[in-house]
Amino acid sequence: MSYISWTPDHSVGVEIVDQQHKQLFTILNRFLEIAAHERGNVGNLSVLFENLRNYADTHFATEDELMRARGYPNRERHEAEHAIFLDKLSELEVGMLTGMAIDERVPAFLLQWINKHILVEDKRMGAFLAAQGEDRAD
Ligand SMILES: [Fe+2]
Repeated sequence: MSYISWTPDHSVGVEIVDQQHKQLFTILNRFLEIAAHERGNVGNLSVLFENLRNYADTHFATEDELMRARGYPNRERHEAEHAIFLDKLSELEVGMLTGMAIDERVPAFLLQWINKHILVEDKRMGAFLAAQGEDRAD
């Protein structure tokens, strides 16, 4: 089951970022699919959270490096959104590892966040980088 699918609408025009978003979608789909069946299975859930957090960290670091290198003016706000995503991931992890019922709003938040973040903030960043001559994906 796919919770979220990458479409050309998600392209931010920077190839490395688009590639990482596709990979992030794949990991997030797998995460949500498995997480739904692993409630209370602390070992498996820990690995699952670690994989998603590690990839999110790698991806956010790539974007942050691009924003820093190019002097992107909205970098702080952009980074604050990344921090919110990681906070919510921690909230979900604590809830699931302690065997509490999964609050359906948390997975929904992760999906909505990633979709909106890419379509608004990442595209804004991509347009800025493209204007400076960063390789475009199209
Ligand atoms: Fe971002």
